[in-house]
Amino acid sequence: MPQSLIKKITGRSARIGVIGLGYVGLPLVIEFFKSGFDVTGFDVDARKVKALDRGERYIKHVDISPLIVGRSEKAFTGKERKQQSNPKSGSFRPTTDFTCLEEMNCIVICVPTPLTKYREPDLSYVLETTKTIARYLRKGQLIVLESTTYPGTTDEDMRTVLEKTGLKAGRDFFLAFSPEREDPNNREYRTGTIPKVVGGYTKKCLAAAVALYDTIVLKTVPVSSTRVAEATKLIENIYRSVNIALVNELKVLFDRMGIDIWEAIDAAKTKPFGFQAFYPGPGLGGHCIPIDPFYLTWKAREYGFSTRFIELAGEINTSMPDYVVSKVVKALNDVRKHVKDSRILMLGLSYKANIDDDRESPAYRLMEKLEEMGAKVSYNDPYIPVIKPTREFSKLAGRKSVEITDDYDLLLITTAHDEYSGTDFTSFGVPVVDTRDVIKKKSRLVYRA
Ligand SMILES: NC(=O)c1ccc[n+]([C@@H]2O[C@H](COP(=O)([O-])OP(=O)(O)OC[C@H]3O[C@@H](n4cnc5c(N)ncnc54)[C@H](O)[C@@H]3O)[C@@H](O)[C@H]2O)c1
Repeated sequence: MPQSLIKKITGRSARIGVIGLGYVGLPLVIEFFKSGFDVTGFDVDARKVKALDRGERYIKHVDISPLIVGRSEKAFTGKERKQQSNPKSGSFRPTTDFTCLEEMNCIVICVPTPLTKYREPDLSYVLETTKTIARYLRKGQLIVLESTTYPGTTDEDMRTVLEKTGLKAGRDFFLAFSPEREDPNNREYRTGTIPKVVGGYTKKCLAAAVALYDTIVLKTVPVSSTRVAEATKLIENIYRSVNIALVNELKVLFDRMGIDIWEAIDAAKTKPFGFQAFYPGPGLGGHCIPIDPFYLTWKAREYGFSTRFIELAGEINTSMPDYVVSKVVKALNDVRKHVKDSRILMLGLSYKANIDDDRESPAYRLMEKLEEMGAKVSYNDPYIPVIKPTREFSKLAGRKSVEITDDYDLLLITTAHDEYSGTDFTSFGVPVVDTRDVIKKKSRLVYRA
């Protein structure tokens, strides 16, 4: 039975629905569109749908121009597309109308998987989406989850909901998991060139999902189950979290020993085998590394297992903002100032360089800690002109990025945006706490943190 779906996929007549038009879903839409499919993008956020309708970018590094060109050709439905002069180009329709799910042949889910305030998996977005899909589920459809989650989400949690319709996974519809490996603003690798791991609930499910991703990526990597595919993503992110914790711990030790950790890492990475460079920082940020490992920690409890490496890495990484604050206190003390009433300019809000993603950014934690101590903190970030409301740091919402001037008692570099690399911040004559190895010049005013 997947044969007829596979034929539709390879012939580009399959209709693709992508649910969740964020950092993961939007690049995926673009790849399917460029591959010649009729793509419908679903989101509950009407502002995003309207922005796409108007051809407006809401994620700075995601270039939506291919979609705009496609839309100007008015290629919204399969029927209209066939009337176009170029039948190879796809069509794109963003919508909040989930009844259109029924028309889809393949549905890819890219909704958030955060943690609750008790740091447990919050699967509500995935489950709500699955319930919505179940309402429109029909024979022959392929459903793929891409959101990062613990092993068992696809074949237990999701399948149970979908099979309540009376349709059976592997027999009536196809179910798969394919982890997203998107690395925002990575100039070397993008969605289409990153190998895609795919796991199916059954062999037929796998065949259908592999056929789908073969149309947009250079290499698919089939694995034996959805659980292996889910575990693959977690291994990747836990590996990062643990190694970042390792260099963060060594940073603190080497600082006491008068050794520059960045210099040591740069030398270590000249070894052509057996070493991969990870870099210290002010703490973990982003939607993935601070969160995903704890999906496994939670699931491991069901098996009476405690994930000690993950917990320890989490402990070290979350202690980094306190370490940075201790450096700020020392730097101010050395110029006979105290934190209270000091004017601090924080350089960079996003969790990594040259992107506008500020989710889980340690910069917010630092801002909060310094302000609790009485500092007056301003920020500059060319990618984040205004702080958007967030659940955790609602008090900071509405603050605006300021100009970089010498009107501050201390500069705190939290993100290595390219824009900062050309400036000699030591010329400002105030202490500079650098958490990202931006300042290469040796100066008594520079404090590595
Ligand atoms: N951002 C990354 O770099 C990255 C990389 C790999 C994996 N992931 C994983 O991919 C998943 C999505 O992450 P993201 O960064 O794209 O998140 P995001 O917040 O940027 O996008 C998620 C989108 O889903 C929408 N949404 C929420 N609930 C919905 C619902 N019920 N129906 C339809 N749309 C809904 C939101 O409005 C939002 O537009 C997560 O599981 C994340 O862990 C993210």
